[in-house]
Parts: sequence; structure tokens; C-alpha cells
Amino acid sequence: MSLAIRSRQSPAFFAEVSGIDIGKPIDRDSVAAIEAGMDRYAVLVFPGQRIGDEQQMAFARNFGAIENARGGNVTKPQDKRLVTGMNDVSNLGKDGKPLARDSRQRLFNIGNMLWHSDSSFRPIPAKYSLLSARVVNAKGGNTEFADMRAAYDALDEEMQRYIEDLVCEHSLMYSRGSLGFLDYSEEERQMFRPVRQRLVRTHPVTGRKSLYLSSHAGAILGMPTPEARILLRDLTEHATQPQFVHVHTWSPYDLVMWDNRQTMHRVRRYDESQPRDMRRTTVAGDAATVTQAAAP
Ligand SMILES: [Fe+2]
Repeated sequence: MSLAIRSRQSPAFFAEVSGIDIGKPIDRDSVAAIEAGMDRYAVLVFPGQRIGDEQQMAFARNFGAIENARGGNVTKPQDKRLVTGMNDVSNLGKDGKPLARDSRQRLFNIGNMLWHSDSSFRPIPAKYSLLSARVVNAKGGNTEFADMRAAYDALDEEMQRYIEDLVCEHSLMYSRGSLGFLDYSEEERQMFRPVRQRLVRTHPVTGRKSLYLSSHAGAILGMPTPEARILLRDLTEHATQPQFVHVHTWSPYDLVMWDNRQTMHRVRRYDESQPRDMRRTTVAGDAATVTQAAAP
């Protein structure tokens, strides 16, 4: 069976990939076909891929370097469950058991239930994320995706003009702060220093514009904070209306790959007394969206 990418939606931004075993080395034509599929759709699911961490990292490297995960969470190095190169998006501790209710790691990770684009808090934000479902939670835990190109296209021209050159500040402290997670060490404050991102970005291959929103965005340069936050909130409400959203219900060993430059996503609530073992590899971006401020 040969590689095929099919979508059942219209307009489509989510498609299913068949005819490929991503646990094995793949040829250049297949890589190019998958990249073309990502450019066109922005979210692809590869069902039934029984892979391990090494295979997942090898597959991700077809699309660029793996992003350095440093500075993306509050988990201490000695508490990490997975090898370097893998982002742990499970609810599990190093012992393999669900984290305690008051675990700081768990409370910080609840932020993944807010709409976001991965690593928008980094000066060079992520290109693709690849999420492999190793253990699916019995109740809830769907991942929702929003098409930020369609959301941009649906704005009226006046709003498109107004936001065209706006620059936001993104930080994990903004997204977590909106949930009341406000307690950081001095080291974490340094690590989570805000970075600048354009509010409207243009896809390097297709040239399509998209809204670059994320719950990590908490300020807009040159705009009073409440005005900026209500604008960001309004745009987020607009961009996450049902017509722009696809809900993915996970089956074990689905691998879902999305383009963070064109989409936002969030995980929905699930039964946290039961395991949900999801493992992410992140393909690093290759350019900043805007010049960063000089270091203080
Ligand atoms: Fe995420």
C-alpha cells in the first residue's frame, strides 16, 4: 500500500495518513509528501503506529532538528520520566503513576488545557509537534485543534489591518498565571521571561496568513494591558468557534502531527486518577517571527 493523505472534512485542515510505517526509515519522497500534507492541512493523524521513543525521535528528525525542551516546564531534571528529546505530556510521575492532586508539575501542566501553540514562549517557536498516544485515558482527554488561517481569513478587513503589525509578548507565566499559578522561583522567572511574537504570521511555504495566538500571549507592545488582553481574548474566542475547530478522539498508538505556525490546540479534561501517557517530539522552528528585545 502506498502513502495516501485523505481528508473527510470540508474545508479541510485535518487529514489521515495511511500506507506508511513511521517506525521504519522513510524515503525522501514520503517526507516531501508528508510536508506537503502539513502545508495544505496543518494537522495529520497517522493511526496505529506502534512506535517507541527512539523511533518517534527518528521520525521527527525527518522534518528538522528536535527542539531543546529546556525552559518549557517546572519539572526538575531528576523527576523526568522520559529521555532527552521527548516531551512528557502525560499525567504520570517518574514512578509511572498518576501525579498527586497537589503536585506542582501536575498543576503547571494543567495549562495545556488552555488554547495554545507549542513553544510560542520561545524566541524561535516550534514548527511541528508530533504526539504519540501510548496509553489513552478512558474518559475525556480529546485534543482540539483550531485552524488559525481560516480564523484569520474570516476577520473583517478593518480588523486584519488593525492587527497586521502588532507584536505580542508570550510567556508561560501568562498562561499559567491566568489559572492562578503565580508562584515561581527566581530561576523560573528568568527562564520564563517574555518573548516577542507577531500576532499575524505568514506561512513560509504557502504564503497564507494566520493568527498567531496562544494563551502564553499576555501583552501587546504599545498597548495598555487590559486593552491588549481583551483584544487577545476576543480574537481567541473568534478563532476557536466550532467552524474552525477539529476534535481528535485518541485511539492507542495514534500519532498526530500539527503545524504550530498555523494552528492552536488544547487538551480537554480527563480522569486524572487513570494514566494518560502521551509523548511529544517537537520539531524546532527555523526563524523568529519578529526581532527580540535586547537582553536586559
Ligand atoms: Fe501543546
